[in-house]
Amino acid sequence: MSIRAIRGATTISQNTRDEIFNATIELVEQIIEKNSIKQEDTTDIIFTVTPDITAAFPAAAVRKMGITDIPLLDMAAPDIDNALKMCIRAMVHINSELTNAQLKHIYLRGAKVLRPDIAEKRKISVAIDGPAGAGKSSVAKRVAKDMGYVYIDTGAMYRAVAVWAIKNGIDINDTKTIVDSLDKIKIDISYGDNVQKMILNGEDVTERIRENDASMGASAVAVIPEVRKFLVDMQREMAKKGGVVMDGRDIGTTVLPDAELKIYLTASVDERARRRYKEYIEKGIECNYDELKEDVIKRDHNDMTRDVSPLRQADDAVLVDTTDIDFDKSVDLIKQLIKDTEDRS
Ligand code: DC
Repeated sequence: MSIRAIRGATTISQNTRDEIFNATIELVEQIIEKNSIKQEDTTDIIFTVTPDITAAFPAAAVRKMGITDIPLLDMAAPDIDNALKMCIRAMVHINSELTNAQLKHIYLRGAKVLRPDIAEKRKISVAIDGPAGAGKSSVAKRVAKDMGYVYIDTGAMYRAVAVWAIKNGIDINDTKTIVDSLDKIKIDISYGDNVQKMILNGEDVTERIRENDASMGASAVAVIPEVRKFLVDMQREMAKKGGVVMDGRDIGTTVLPDAELKIYLTASVDERARRRYKEYIEKGIECNYDELKEDVIKRDHNDMTRDVSPLRQADDAVLVDTTDIDFDKSVDLIKQLIKDTEDRS
């Protein structure tokens, strides 16, 4: 084990005890959490405050956190011309097996400007819409995994409602019974290794929702306004904290109209039919290209012409046409769009 030093800094907007305490606690909590520090491995914490901070000692905030057996020290930062104002800096010493390169130094709030190279970027909400077969879910899943975002497949939720109706012997076109039953449908999404598992009333239906009757059923229940409201409310709740890549048909237009990045992912009808054909052939499923193409055209028509939340490109969405670009290029392109948007946020 070696002694290592972890740096951090944050700012406050007013010189009050509450602000100093809140900012210090947030900073120390993040240093501890992001570096998985055990209290017994911490040797000491040194704080500095800029001369404009006088209302409280940051160390007192740490004592308030219940950390009483670690030496703490507050010091005045030098009064440097044009330096960042209202800034609390911390240096946490720990005994650790980690190398210097593995340590995570934490720069929050206005102090991000001190180390833009390492400050964690704020995660945004990303809405990806587009027609069936454009590759939304595979691209979105990979992008989310690579960038530490949560992937939410909203089509899977419409599929789950359809599977519930099928399992309960309810005709998929019996709108009234489906609407009256919504309070009996409990959809949970669990994530393991970033893989979305769909749990319907306690049962894992991740595979079941991909069957053909579920696809057809999803498309039928997706036109029912009450079903849409039921699922849209759930989707908004899931996206509340940000850091999500959500795909569907109405994410940028209806579910997350304030998403920081909206993408309309599409490809030509021929290319989408070709991809589906290749996928089926690789899985050993018999199929006919012309029929698959008809299917794509029919689903586009259904999605784009329905009365409620039809599929359309949001005015502020970026169009990504993948007809002539492969999967890896599509992923790279979207990751770059996210990074650029994060930098601006
Ligand atoms: O993307 P998917 O094939 O899993 O979607 C299943 C159905 O749900 C499809 O017919 C479109 C519909 N859907 C929708 O209307 N709105 C969404 N946000 C997602 C899917």
